[in-house]
Amino acid sequence: MLPVYLETFGCQMNELDSELVHGQLTALGYRFVDTPEHAAVILYNTCSVREQAEQKAYSRIGIISARKRAGERLILGVIGCMAERDGIDLFRRHPQVDLMCGPGELDRLPQLIDNVRRTQQAQNAEFAEPLAIADRTALAGNRSRRSTTLSAAQDDLESLDLSRAFDPGARGAKKYSAYVRITRGCNKFCTYCVVPNTRGAEIHRPPDHIVDECKRLVDAGVLEITLLGQTVNHYRYQHGSALTVAGREAPQVGPGLSAFRTAPRAGVRCTTFADLLRRIHEELPALKRLRFITSYPRDFGNDILTVLRDSPRICRYLHAPAQSGSDRILRLMNRGYTVGEYLDFANRATSMLPDLCLAGDFIVGFPSETDADFQETCALVKRLPFKNNFIFKYSPRPGTAAFDRLKDDVPDAVKRFRNNQLLAIQSEVSRATHASWIGKRVEVLFDEVREMQKLKTPAPTTQLTIEGAESFRNQTPESNRSLRSVQCIGRTPGDLIFSMECDSLQIAAAFVGKTAYVDITSASPLFLTGTLTGSNLASSH
Ligand code: SAH
Ligand code: SF4
Ligand code: F3S
Repeated sequence: MLPVYLETFGCQMNELDSELVHGQLTALGYRFVDTPEHAAVILYNTCSVREQAEQKAYSRIGIISARKRAGERLILGVIGCMAERDGIDLFRRHPQVDLMCGPGELDRLPQLIDNVRRTQQAQNAEFAEPLAIADRTALAGNRSRRSTTLSAAQDDLESLDLSRAFDPGARGAKKYSAYVRITRGCNKFCTYCVVPNTRGAEIHRPPDHIVDECKRLVDAGVLEITLLGQTVNHYRYQHGSALTVAGREAPQVGPGLSAFRTAPRAGVRCTTFADLLRRIHEELPALKRLRFITSYPRDFGNDILTVLRDSPRICRYLHAPAQSGSDRILRLMNRGYTVGEYLDFANRATSMLPDLCLAGDFIVGFPSETDADFQETCALVKRLPFKNNFIFKYSPRPGTAAFDRLKDDVPDAVKRFRNNQLLAIQSEVSRATHASWIGKRVEVLFDEVREMQKLKTPAPTTQLTIEGAESFRNQTPESNRSLRSVQCIGRTPGDLIFSMECDSLQIAAAFVGKTAYVDITSASPLFLTGTLTGSNLASSH
């Protein structure tokens, strides 16, 4: 039972991949540990989307490399998007790394670990033969499965998703929520983005596989499923295609953008994203919440909004990144829509679904972004009721079109200034959006207990944020601290955070994994608070 430590960086796709790796290795007899100290195999599931994300992984790799140089016998593996992007270069710069595996090859990870283990054992017996690079790497970009057929390679990956451990314990604290991938990869080639390089072409999973996976998760006690795709609303599966494996439908390459501009050919049966949502909602009445990320602001049709409107258990939550409020910058980003089209999409969505929560991402300091462009971004953020936006400073990524063709000419100080300014604007928008929920009754799914220091004298702010409370505590004299306060944290269907003070850890823990109706009594830009409505604690199972 070799102890494995696995740390995950990056997006929900990576979190899901880590869960699959966890299941795969557990089934083979590996045991997972919570810290790297006593692990024999250390795996970093990495992200390449911004340089900062890579730096985090590099600093971890540096620490483990030093342990290896000091003589500890460990297996150090880098998996995920950074392995795929950096490839063999990473081995050269970090010779202590034993193996690398890209996100499209994770079904081969056990074999790679096994190869390294055997070589290390042979080294003990002093007839060491260095392992060939090809036996230490599985990257789509070099030793490619381009030699095999798309369907065969995808079918192996598909079996990894299908063979996931339907064991609630495997998802740790989040055992009531699960991710289900509907689309791998991305074809959009936004000029700043590494994802099409690291995750490969857009591949859509057959609807039957997706529904089956959802069913098994619900049978295992999952209450909330989040469907994953880089542009999730572009899901489209064409039935009756030639690409079937052993008589079963196989994963399929996504259609080009033009598919959304023209009607399907006569006689072709398609499962669209709207169809898929409707089907999961209808076939899984025990599923409490169905959500999906990330929505692409183009081609988000009224057919999808109608399904949301008519399906009470589909969450009215859209994470639909706008990225910029300037048409000129959107064009340079190759996003494929204008600000006007984004507004049309957002206004259609909020008018058809009045309780919708809208969220997104913005990039500031994209090459050539002027102050006027940035002001247009600020105006867009002010114009819509975003519950939150993730705001990123542009990070040039090798291998992307923007890196090759556009000069990273906005100074870092300007990027930082714009980042802070947009955060401040978003904070005001979030305050108003959250405040609009005061007086409403909503259902909350509780999933976490937090303990915080409580102050005898109230903090001098009108509303403490969770982060605010933490930093205030640090500056608070001992005399102003009293007992710890216990909060049970949950989320509304629109993904707003709800925090409820509880008398004890036991009481708070009893809420985890349950839903309850609450009346919202106050709000901050980050979360809502309120009271339970009578004894409505709904049982989850
Ligand atoms: N598929 C999703 C986004 C995936 S990446 C979509 O298209 O919306 C998550 C976010 O990271 C992006 O929305 C973008 O805002 C940000 N991002 C991606 N590449 C970046 C880069 N090079 N620099 C800064 N932010 C970046
Ligand atoms: Fe990246 Fe654009 Fe694809 Fe999103 S849609 S993953 S930003 S290329
Ligand atoms: Fe990062 Fe790869 Fe996700 S680059 S954002 S982990 S798809």
